[in-house]
Amino acid sequence: MDNLAAEKIAGIKQLAEFLLQSDYALVLTGAGMDTESNIPDFRGKDGLWQNIDARVVADINTIRQNYKVFHQFYKERLSAMTDVLPHAGHYALAELEKKGIIKGIATQNISGLHLKAGSKRVYELHGDLKKVFCDNCGAPATTQELYEMKPCSACSELALRPNVVFFGEALPADVWNKAVAEIKKSDLLLIIGTSLEVAPVNQLPYLTAGKTVFINAEDVGHKFDLTIIGKAKEILSETMRYINA
Ligand code: OAD
Repeated sequence: MDNLAAEKIAGIKQLAEFLLQSDYALVLTGAGMDTESNIPDFRGKDGLWQNIDARVVADINTIRQNYKVFHQFYKERLSAMTDVLPHAGHYALAELEKKGIIKGIATQNISGLHLKAGSKRVYELHGDLKKVFCDNCGAPATTQELYEMKPCSACSELALRPNVVFFGEALPADVWNKAVAEIKKSDLLLIIGTSLEVAPVNQLPYLTAGKTVFINAEDVGHKFDLTIIGKAKEILSETMRYINA
């Protein structure tokens, strides 16, 4: 066992203890939670934003002024998220909720994988891909219509979009407020797979009065009570071994 592995194992044991001792544990996840389900992250080493300017494709003004650019990007995102499955890390979090240890998951991800894995109290802070509507008139539409770049059947505008938050838009207030209230109550916050570069979500770790644990493939320069550098799937699966021992 090399030093790094020893450090990781010590971190995992400590995390299991924190979880078992906690009364109200919350989780915050980002794109790194989903990479092992084959959904690329944004700013990691193989991230989407390495070659794409986020400000251009994922900005609300792009939908309104350059719909085709927006559409081309989102069509690829939709394809990338079709048929994806949760991995052992998602299932571990669902099991922790079932055991009453985790009280909820706030996620920046739009994949729906936490729900698919069986987690119940999930706060989708950046929206989700399941709902589609017209950005012009608000009429509902289908994913297939969005995928095929159809105009809105109600107002005929080329403006169909998924129910996700774009740069320049506010987060859904009800979901955000619930997540904030839950995190403020927490005595342990587990932060997984996020660069913490995007506001306002990157402020959430500072709202808990409890312990903070960061699980990520790389250090992102924030201070936590415990940092475990590694992959979400392995770390969460190993943590369950200690929890279930
Ligand atoms: P990022 O892509 O910014 O960060 C993902 C982090 O996860 C990186 O630090 C990776 O190193 C790490 N990572 C990758 N794979 C991992 C794994 N298997 N296990 C652990 N860590 C891993 O993603 P977010 O912080 O989620 O918003 O990005 C925040 C927001 O930026 C997204 O929700 C999206 C984007 O713009 C919108 O589109 C509104």
